[in-house]
Amino acid sequence: MSIFLDSAHIEDARRAMQLGFVRGVTTNPSHIARTGRPGLDVLRDLLALTDGPVFYQVTADTVEERYAQAWELHSLCPDRLVVKIPATTENLALTARLTKAGVDCLVTAVASPAQVYLAAQAGAHYVAPYVNRLTRQVGDGVSIVREMAQILRGTQTEILAASLKSVEEVVAVLLAGAHHVTVPLDLLLAMGEHPFSQQAIVEFNQARIPA
Ligand code: E4P
Repeated sequence: MSIFLDSAHIEDARRAMQLGFVRGVTTNPSHIARTGRPGLDVLRDLLALTDGPVFYQVTADTVEERYAQAWELHSLCPDRLVVKIPATTENLALTARLTKAGVDCLVTAVASPAQVYLAAQAGAHYVAPYVNRLTRQVGDGVSIVREMAQILRGTQTEILAASLKSVEEVVAVLLAGAHHVTVPLDLLLAMGEHPFSQQAIVEFNQARIPA
């Protein structure tokens, strides 16, 4: 069970890695575009900032171009680069080709237990449901994750829950069976805080321990 940073901003990654308990970084094409920099430059910087997995999505138009792009990404850091592949039947076949050849893959934007069942058959290491988006656009995102976790029981495929907007949503998907979560920096920092803890600290600070 791990927590990842969901961002392509280098300063976010630097701050997150300094915490010492964030395993790696997930990106997506929107994250990369917001940096205003070439994607591979961002990716190289992120790989240099962490010793854990970095996730990068293929975006080429055709499946053969995505196959070539996946190998280009894999070659940058075979031990830690995870190729993100959006869930379609064609891309699940692409995933099977790549995993058989030793490329670490995550099938992303999964919305149904059927998709994650096929992702497991294709040898995907991870699947990424977008929980908050699913809740806003499909149904109850947490319940969908719970069904996915039930389908994946006994397989090698792990749920990396994404699109998480609150501490409560993070906790709910972990309780529903997600193996990992990826969160933006502000949520990551907020997870460790609670008014109860702050109040306890105030009271302890008022205690005067004799020297
Ligand atoms: C993973 O990187 C996903 O693309 C990301 O968490 C989606 O989050 P969003 O729904 O806020 O775009």
